[in-house]
Amino acid sequence: MEEQDIYSVIGEGGFENLIAYFYRQVPDDEILGPLYRGRDLAGAEQRLREFLIFRFGGPARYVEHRGHPRLRMRHAPFPITHAARDRWLRLMASALQETNMPAEAKQILWTYFESTATAMINRT
Ligand code: HEM
Repeated sequence: MEEQDIYSVIGEGGFENLIAYFYRQVPDDEILGPLYRGRDLAGAEQRLREFLIFRFGGPARYVEHRGHPRLRMRHAPFPITHAARDRWLRLMASALQETNMPAEAKQILWTYFESTATAMINRT
């Protein structure tokens, strides 16, 4: 399985479930909750979901609506420390655990999440 095969393997529903599980944990999290306070959580959920669908071989709706991803630039306004990165990954790990996609798909997504979340760190 390659990165670009993920969408055909897990479909819209696979991404929907994963990202819904992820965001369900955000508001009450003591590190991530404050970053999102007062923001449009449903919109944030949709943006992450659509981005991942695009990134892993599905329709490019994210790019049509938002343009080039430029993820590091888009995260610059938010203080992302090492601890925030660790917490983001922990919530994503439990979301992955809740889904029943094939183990190989989980592995590919996890490898991507680990390196990309690290790249988002922008504060010490
Ligand atoms: C694999 C790692 C990550 C990916 C793929 C990712 C992806 C995204 C995407 C696509 C957006 C929407 C950008 C836009 O169109 O405006 C976004 C927004 C955001 N991300 Fe991340 N992100 C990652 C890691 C993190 C981490 C580690 C944090 C902080 C702990 C974080 C916090 C936020 C916040 C606060 C927003 C603004 C919410 C909003 O869209 O309104 N992200 N992220």
